[in-house]
Amino acid sequence: MSAALIATGYKSSTTKANFISMNILVFGKDGQLGKAFHVLLDSLLPALADKPNLQYVGRSECDLADATALSTLLNQLQPKLIINASAYTAVDKAETDIDQAFAINAKAPEVMAQYAADHDATFLHYSTDYVFDGEKYGYYLEDDIRNPLGVYGKSKAAGEEVIVRIFAGNTGGGQYAIFRTSWVYGDGGNFIRTILRLAKEREELKIIDDQYGVPTSATWLAQVSLGLVADDKLKIKKFPSGIYHAVPNGETTWHGLACLAVKAALDAGATLKTHPSSIKPIPAVEYPLPAPRPMNSRMSTDKLAQALGFRGNMSKLQLLNQPWDIAVKAYVSNLAKDRLI
Ligand SMILES: NC(=O)c1ccc[n+]([C@@H]2O[C@H](COP(=O)([O-])OP(=O)(O)OC[C@H]3O[C@@H](n4cnc5c(N)ncnc54)[C@H](OP(=O)(O)O)[C@@H]3O)[C@@H](O)[C@H]2O)c1
Repeated sequence: MSAALIATGYKSSTTKANFISMNILVFGKDGQLGKAFHVLLDSLLPALADKPNLQYVGRSECDLADATALSTLLNQLQPKLIINASAYTAVDKAETDIDQAFAINAKAPEVMAQYAADHDATFLHYSTDYVFDGEKYGYYLEDDIRNPLGVYGKSKAAGEEVIVRIFAGNTGGGQYAIFRTSWVYGDGGNFIRTILRLAKEREELKIIDDQYGVPTSATWLAQVSLGLVADDKLKIKKFPSGIYHAVPNGETTWHGLACLAVKAALDAGATLKTHPSSIKPIPAVEYPLPAPRPMNSRMSTDKLAQALGFRGNMSKLQLLNQPWDIAVKAYVSNLAKDRLI
């Protein structure tokens, strides 16, 4: 990325002149979580007297596979809060695109973490249930052994490990949170959108019913995760650095999610060929994919609940405890309203 582009280029909501404000830098601006952060941060701005400088970076501004360009960008923008909503998320493609997956999911977060650790900045990063093998009976805890099944999970696990290692030896004052989440949906391509598209075309669907996880709204994830590290005025708080599981309450299977999404779409007036009763449950072995997925993605969120509760953040604690299906119904209803089904 050129210096000229940094000076003049990408989307930035700046603040009053003659005033040095906090820089917040969001990577992955065109992804589901990046867009959710854009909406959330912009919505907080009007009420703030001391407005931070918000910068949103996407692939066209900085290719994260270029570690030197990334490092230059960080040194020029000097963020106090780095939100890394970017990732290589093409789970099956990653099986044969290994170098790129590791460049984006491990090397780029390493550069961001090193910058934050050295410059007394706060680093927010996101990871996945795919760092686990899914063999555990019950809920995964944050310090359970990672044992990813595929390249995507391995690259995300490598990203987690390097961030933890950098901050363990940190003397520069920075802090970090890695939020492990699952089954994300928002403004972009995701399982729910795919199911609704297929439900318009086909009379019957066959969906996996023996993999368990929690659908997570990108909007919800942005709100909950930001709630740990900043107050409503976007002032950075001190919090215990570490890994946190961040998913809403409850659990389901892909089949359960597909049935709910189709029912919610029909309730919202969408015209579909598929009905919940014509969605057939199948075992994962009947739908082989290039990358194996964990059968059990249930993750305990007690650690995050405790951290939010300890800091008296009751509204975010309430949000954390919200059942997953409430947000899915609202999401599908909004898609219908926006004529996106
Ligand atoms: N999606 C899920 O189901 C899921 C589940 C568990 C955890 N997560 C984690 O949650 C976080 C957010 O996921 P998401 O669903 O918001 O992902 P997403 O929609 O796929 O967005 C990822 C963003 O990263 C950007 N990116 C990828 N390679 C890049 C590169 N070389 N240079 C610059 N930008 C690059 C993409 O840019 P382009 O738009 O240009 O491609 C995209 O905008 C990620 O850490 C992910 O691993 C996601």
